[in-house]
Amino acid sequence: MICSNLQIKDNILYFGGRSTVELAEKYGTPIYVMDEQTIRNNCRKYTVSMKKYFGDNARAFYASKACCFKKIYSIMQSEGMCVDVVSPGEIYTAKSAGFDMSKVCFHSNSKNDFDINFAMDNGVGCFAVDNLEELTAINNFAGERGFKQKIIFRVTPGIDTHTYEAVNTGKVDSKFGFPIETGAAMEITKVALGMDNIDLAGFHCHVGSQLFDSDVFVRSAKIMLEFIAEVKAETGYEARELDLGGGYGVRYTENDPEIDIEDNIRQVAEYVKKLCADLNLKEPAISMEPGRSIVADAGITLYKVGNVKRIEGYKNYIAIDGGMGDNPRYALYESEYTVIAAHKANEPCDFPCDLVGRFCESGDIIQPKIKLPESVARGDIIAVLTTGAYNYSMASNYNRIPKLPVIMVNGNEDYIAVKGETFEDLIKNDM
Ligand code: LLP
Repeated sequence: MICSNLQIKDNILYFGGRSTVELAEKYGTPIYVMDEQTIRNNCRKYTVSMKKYFGDNARAFYASKACCFKKIYSIMQSEGMCVDVVSPGEIYTAKSAGFDMSKVCFHSNSKNDFDINFAMDNGVGCFAVDNLEELTAINNFAGERGFKQKIIFRVTPGIDTHTYEAVNTGKVDSKFGFPIETGAAMEITKVALGMDNIDLAGFHCHVGSQLFDSDVFVRSAKIMLEFIAEVKAETGYEARELDLGGGYGVRYTENDPEIDIEDNIRQVAEYVKKLCADLNLKEPAISMEPGRSIVADAGITLYKVGNVKRIEGYKNYIAIDGGMGDNPRYALYESEYTVIAAHKANEPCDFPCDLVGRFCESGDIIQPKIKLPESVARGDIIAVLTTGAYNYSMASNYNRIPKLPVIMVNGNEDYIAVKGETFEDLIKNDM
C-alpha cells in the first residue's frame, strides 16, 4: 500500500483503521475522508525534526492552500504549527477557527489594498512581499496605523526543479517574487531598509511542489544564504529569518519514491550550519512551508459507480458520481492517482478502463488507463487515494454540483469536518 494508514482486511479497504465501505454507507457518496491522526503525524515530522536539527527558533508553516477549513487550523494550532495563507478567505477561516494570527504569514503575488488592510486588521504576523507596489502599500498602511509591519521578501533563486510546469516556481522568469540574478532582489532590499514602517525579517523562496530531488532544499539554501551574505556585505543588514518554502513530494502511486522528511531536514540543516560558518553569518531562523506532505496522504475520496461502459474494440469507462468538480488535478496536470474498488480490494484487477466523472465534458477524467476488478458494477464503492491535498481546496461548482462534505476519522471516532453543500447553498447568492 502506498501509505501506512491504508489496509485491506476481508477484501475491504480500510483507511485510518476504518472500513471505507461502512463510511460510504453511513455518510453517502461522494465524500472526502480525512484521517486526523495522519495529519497530526505529518505535522510532527516537521515540528520535531526542524527543532531537532535547526534549533528552537525553527518553524513549520502549513501551506493552507493545500486544504483549508476551520478544523484544519485547530489541528495546526494544537500541533504547534504556524500557517501560510494566500487570501483574505484563508485569513478569515484561520481567524474563525481561533488560530493565533501572529503565527500567520500572508503570501500571494497580487495583494490588493483590501487584502493588505484585512490582513493588518486581523493581526497577521508577517507578509511575504512579492513586488514593489505591494511593499509601498504595506509601508503606507502600517504608517497609518502607527506600527512597523514585519515582512519577508519572496526571492527567486533561479532554480529549475524537475516537476510539472504549473508548480515550477523558482526560475528567474517566474511570476513570483524578486529574482536574485537580475539584481531586483538586492534593489528591493535596499528600498525596504529605508522605509519607516517596514521591519524586514529576512527572505523566502519556494522553488516548486511535488519535489523528490533530495538536494533541492540544499541548492536553494546555498543560493539564499549567499544572497544574504551579499546583502550583508553591501548594506550591513543581516537577515534574521530564512524561509525555504514547501514542496516535498508524496506518493500518489507505487512508482513515486518515499521521502524521508526527517533525514532530508537533517541534511539541509547540516548544510546551512556549515555554509553560515563559511560565510560568517549568524544562522537565520529557518522556516519551511509544507502543504501537500501534511495533508495529501491523510485524505481519500469515496465515490459510487454509476455505470460501466464497454465500447467493444475500443475502451472501457467506469463512471462515478463525482469527478473534476471535486478533483480537477488530472484535468489540469495529468496527475496520477491510485484507485481501488473498496469492497473488492483483493480481487484481481484485470479490467482495463478509464475512471471518469459525471461532469459534462470529455476531459472529466479522474484517472485514465487503470485496471479494476472485472466485476465492478453500478453501486460499488471506488476509493481514490491521496486526495487530501489540492482536492477540496481546488473544488468547484461546475455543472452546479454541490461541493462534497469532508468526513474526519480519528481512531474509532468519525465526524463531519465540513458539511456537504446543499442545493440551497448553490443559489444562496443568486438574486
Ligand atoms: N509555499 C508556497 C509559497 C507555495 O506557493 C506553496 C505551493 C507551498 C508553500 C506548498 O507547497 P507543497 O508543500 O504543497 O508542495 N495545485 C497544485 C499545487 C500548487 C502548489 C502551489 N504552491 C497541485 O494540485 O499539484
